[in-house]
Amino acid sequence: MTQTFDIAIIGAGMAGLSAARALTEAGHKTVIFDKSRGSGGRMSSKRTESGNLDMGAQYFTARDPHFRSALQTWIDRGWVAEWSPRLFVRNEDELFESSDDQQRYVGSPRMTSLSRGLLEGLDMVSKTRIERLQQSDDDRWELVDDAGAVHGPFDRVVVATPAPQAVPLLTASGHLEQAASQVEMLPGWTLALAFAEPLNTAVEACFVRVGGLDWISRNSSKPGRQGLDSWVLQSNPRWAMGNLDTDKAEVGKQLRAELAEVLGIDLPEPVFEHAHRWLYARSADTCNWGALAAPEKGLYVCGDWCLGGRIENAWLSGRQAAQTLMGRK
Ligand code: FAD
Ligand code: NAI
Repeated sequence: MTQTFDIAIIGAGMAGLSAARALTEAGHKTVIFDKSRGSGGRMSSKRTESGNLDMGAQYFTARDPHFRSALQTWIDRGWVAEWSPRLFVRNEDELFESSDDQQRYVGSPRMTSLSRGLLEGLDMVSKTRIERLQQSDDDRWELVDDAGAVHGPFDRVVVATPAPQAVPLLTASGHLEQAASQVEMLPGWTLALAFAEPLNTAVEACFVRVGGLDWISRNSSKPGRQGLDSWVLQSNPRWAMGNLDTDKAEVGKQLRAELAEVLGIDLPEPVFEHAHRWLYARSADTCNWGALAAPEKGLYVCGDWCLGGRIENAWLSGRQAAQTLMGRK
């Protein structure tokens, strides 16, 4: 390597972690900033007395050979395990089992075990929301956070946040700002539940094509999870848009009723319930950008919205941003 850079990465989700690892492994010095307490972004889990509950991404699939190769190392390190639930589909007419040969993977013992593993050896500044970028006296980048503190300077910046949160960070480059502004991201509600006694159903996962739900999983059927019979329900974007400001208790009540309807059983009162609203759950359209760059400014952009809303795509986008920064294809 001829030249090493000081690089800021904004966002510690899968895309930012992927970029950070690729750049660090190539000898660059990276610092990741995230507004949250921990890493993982939308690949999030909540630790509760009822077990570890995955509130964001539920599982992932692996199709790209580079991603599959990285996945193998994560499995070898014990960060990820296979999950083969009894999978159902609920449509207008019926609930039916829909087994397939698609291998699905989860972080173990919780989704964030993967982001925690990927963060090993990297520098991260948490609970720091970056509000804007400014040029330093020597034409490098400084990051200004929402408390007014200035971080840097850095030679290069990689923005790895959802598109709407990237826009104010990209004002230095008209084309990057414009590209991110075009991307519409849709909301979603997630409801986690735990029951004292296991629900009387064979369902461990279900794609839902009717009503307000999109997905149901028996969280406790995933490898390494301990605790009570726990469930995670995810609304579809349409339902979430109609219920953006509905209070959490009401969201819980309505989505529980939908769960009972889908499974065709009476639900007991849960002993635990937690609702979370995602404002930027998934992009409305799939772009095929891979990653975006304004190399003349030292600005790079990645995230699932650059390639399609899946964990694998977020990882590939982060890797591509890193390769573009390093001048590789
Ligand atoms: P994110 O994970 O959103 O990371 C961006 C990070 O940037 C966040 O940590 C955020 O805190 C931080 N950030 C934002 N703005 C700032 C700022 N100004 N300053 C500092 N930090 C900032 N994918 C699958 O493959 N399988 C699934 O089953 C699946 N289910 C999903 C279910 C839900 C409810 C949701 C929401 C998503 C799901 N996805 C799923 C999609 C998957 O979670 C995403 O594709 C992937 O995690 C996106 O990673 P990312 O790094 O691009 O973005
Ligand atoms: P995948 O291959 O398991 O699923 C892709 C899609 O194919 C599913 O959404 C489902 O509609 C359909 N499907 C898959 N297997 C099926 C089966 N056996 N029977 C019937 N339909 C089946 O996983 P992939 O491609 O890795 O996608 C990731 C998942 O992440 C998707 O399910 C997607 O909906 C979900 N996601 C959810 C978000 C949210 O906000 N809730 C955001 C982004 C992704």
